[in-house]
Amino acid sequence: MTHKTLTDLLNWRYATKKMDPTKPVPQEKVDAIVEAVRMTPTSSGTQPFELLVVTNPDVRSEIRKVAMDQSPITDGSHLLVFAAWDNYTEERIDAVTQQMTEARGEIPMLNAYYDNLKGMYLPRDAEVNYAHAARQAYIALGFALIAAAEQEVDSTPMEGFDPAEVDKILGLKERGLRSVVLLPLGYRDPTGDWLLPMKKVRKSQETIVTQVA
Ligand SMILES: Cc1cc2nc3c(=O)[nH]c(=O)nc-3n(C[C@H](O)[C@H](O)[C@H](O)COP(=O)(O)O)c2cc1C
Repeated sequence: MTHKTLTDLLNWRYATKKMDPTKPVPQEKVDAIVEAVRMTPTSSGTQPFELLVVTNPDVRSEIRKVAMDQSPITDGSHLLVFAAWDNYTEERIDAVTQQMTEARGEIPMLNAYYDNLKGMYLPRDAEVNYAHAARQAYIALGFALIAAAEQEVDSTPMEGFDPAEVDKILGLKERGLRSVVLLPLGYRDPTGDWLLPMKKVRKSQETIVTQVA
């Protein structure tokens, strides 16, 4: 098999509309995608999100009902739910500092850095902090999209769902989390997907890039 470049993979992947319910994604491929999520860089290294890997068919059926009846949620084998912290708290930021200290040793500058971060984040409105955490979750979504393509696993990034309802189904509120974005994983149904034969549509580099030389 010839080596696939990142550009090849980005052209191969697409927001799959119809998945084949008879083809589950092997666990090692799911593991590789989850590992990319774990390795995602985040602002100040806080990793302010968690990932739910939902395989339970009943739970996925419930989620599909509040997600515009999108079939990949149940036709895929795994549903990734990216859930961001509902707020930054002292405990959450202290846990980050503690893990870093355990890994790297006591660094005075580090404590000063995270004290300063708490000074900035904690007085802010919860909604502002959630939005910041959610942006970090979107970086993880991007990593997962690329990792899935590398594993030749199909996926569908989804904002088309009711986050409050998904939070209820998964009990996220009690855990201080809010669902941000969904990513079903599975395999494309080559005969049933209207989007598959369509050409990819992207703006040209000239349109989106401004060279400031
Ligand atoms: C954050 C995000 C949310 C999206 N939400 C949905 C969705 O709910 N349902 C869906 O079918 N596609 C959804 N899409 C897919 C986009 O429409 C698609 O990625 C875009 O049109 C580019 O096409 P491609 O991914 O096939 O290259 C979403 C994509 C992103 C990145």
